[in-house]
Amino acid sequence: MDIIVRDNYDELSEYTAKLIAGFVKSKPDCVLGLATGSTPIGTYKELVRMHKEEGLDFSQVKTFNLDEYYGTGIDLEKPYELDQSYARFMHEELLKHINIKAENIHIPDGLTKTPNEFCKWYEEEIKKAGGIDLQLLGIGADGHWAFNEPGSSLASRTRIQALTRQTLDDNYESFYKKAGIAREEMPHFAITMGIGTILEAKNIIMIANGLKKADVVAKCIEGPVTSQITASAIQLHSGGVTVVLDKDAASKLNSLEHYIHVEKMKQKYGL
Ligand code: GLP
Repeated sequence: MDIIVRDNYDELSEYTAKLIAGFVKSKPDCVLGLATGSTPIGTYKELVRMHKEEGLDFSQVKTFNLDEYYGTGIDLEKPYELDQSYARFMHEELLKHINIKAENIHIPDGLTKTPNEFCKWYEEEIKKAGGIDLQLLGIGADGHWAFNEPGSSLASRTRIQALTRQTLDDNYESFYKKAGIAREEMPHFAITMGIGTILEAKNIIMIANGLKKADVVAKCIEGPVTSQITASAIQLHSGGVTVVLDKDAASKLNSLEHYIHVEKMKQKYGL
């Protein structure tokens, strides 16, 4: 696992976008797994800049999003500004600004009436695409990946999942409140890729910033693997894993100095 520490959020975002861009350049038809939340916004902004100013090409890229609130999705009946779906988020923050083909975008359908069938179909689509080459992930304050709340099986697959109070509170503050939507109207369920699904991605990049993530990041990376912190499954991944943190999110890591040293030495040795 590579642990990269950057001084601030902007540097974290630039670093992460460069990693993703390098991947897209080396495999133009790659399959990217995408995440929502406030953390990846800067990364997406930088990818959009690279597309517009440097011609970063997404024309053959396929994307699969991690999750979606159940009961939301791009709903033409609803005023656009009240739509807090992850589908809308992804279009606003990234997808509508780059040259990705509409048929190559996959976001769980939060408006499906048959969620179990949908989840099976989503898993099959990922397989048909050849699997996810690079999965971008944030981490929830309770240590969740996507919407795999504490107690989710580390072998779980795409499914419908109830959200915990903490997740509802965090996501209400970041998104729904700003849109003027009442707390009780926020969706209480989500469709999410499972931990087993995520671990099948060939490469993983996890990003976190801010002091409020410091404790959970330390537990996830240096604590025991546990279904109480589903992101701790990162320790089970055998492929390329990169964790990009700002100084604050990294501040509670026991081996912080070692990670910083390793990055410097890797640069020195050209590794
Ligand atoms: C939601 C998403 C997660 C994301 C988390 C953290 O729960 N389902 O994928 O990692 O929020 O969000 P933020 O980046 O805003 O802290």
